Amino acid sequence: MDLNGKELSNIIQEEIAEEVKTIVAQGKRPPHLAAILVGEDGASRTYVKNKENACAKVGFESSIKRFDASISEEELLNEIRSINENPGIDGLIVQLPLPGHISESKVTHTISPEKDVDGFHDVNIGKLTKGEDTYISATPFGILQLLERNGIETQGKHCVVLGRSNIVGRPMSILMSRNGNPGNATVTLCHSRTKDLKDFCLSADILIVALGRPDFVTADMVKKGAVVIDVGITRVDADNPKGYVLKGDVHYEGVKEVASYITPVPGGVGPMTIIGLLQNTLKAYNQNNLQSEQ
Ligand code: GUN
Repeated sequence: MDLNGKELSNIIQEEIAEEVKTIVAQGKRPPHLAAILVGEDGASRTYVKNKENACAKVGFESSIKRFDASISEEELLNEIRSINENPGIDGLIVQLPLPGHISESKVTHTISPEKDVDGFHDVNIGKLTKGEDTYISATPFGILQLLERNGIETQGKHCVVLGRSNIVGRPMSILMSRNGNPGNATVTLCHSRTKDLKDFCLSADILIVALGRPDFVTADMVKKGAVVIDVGITRVDADNPKGYVLKGDVHYEGVKEVASYITPVPGGVGPMTIIGLLQNTLKAYNQNNLQSEQ
């Protein structure tokens, strides 16, 4: 059965919009997300545009600062510092990747942890690892909610994560092993050097795939009844007006016959990632306002 991220994202979007209506009805300003976009990368522009549209749908304010790829690192860091100090902005994201002359690590660590709604700052990753309250980065957050709101039991299950990226695989492996719900799973994190990968996949009750390799997981790698979460979203050239189709890391047509639940691509994890960002921005807003009321 499909785990429908589009449908769930619409439900949560309405919940957020209701909360914003209540806030605004009390005479307060709405939450405000700022995004910085450097250069002309097509996919990044689309992602930022989608984030802006999502903000508008729930009643958030949003602002995008666009810079030429030639901006210096110091200029960019100063822009971030100025947003850090702006009390009218709750969350800030700098869309990645950045041009080669700019250190992503410096950028990530210049964003104030309180406004780091991407959850990429070391402080927030540290809190996530220790099970403390923090901003969970958008994609893992979206996956947790897909599992939770569909009533999928994770406790005591074997969860296999394919891919150890800082944005998805590694945080996902930590979250699934934490003491909580979803969580309390026994986790195996597989990567490019893993031997006998297929054996690990076949022993997974929950298989989370974040490799960026279209159709990598095939039906013969999946245990009957497993829950399969496909994070992949790769543009593959195709003979259609767009010139491409979006492909997941899982061979959907084959694996859906074996899995109990599977996320389709598109319409599975993708729509949930923006929801996580909106929820983090609302959380940042609430924490900001709590502090200024004290
Ligand atoms: N590039 C790809 N995914 C992301 C994301 O979640 N946040 C940011 N800032 N950049 C990205």
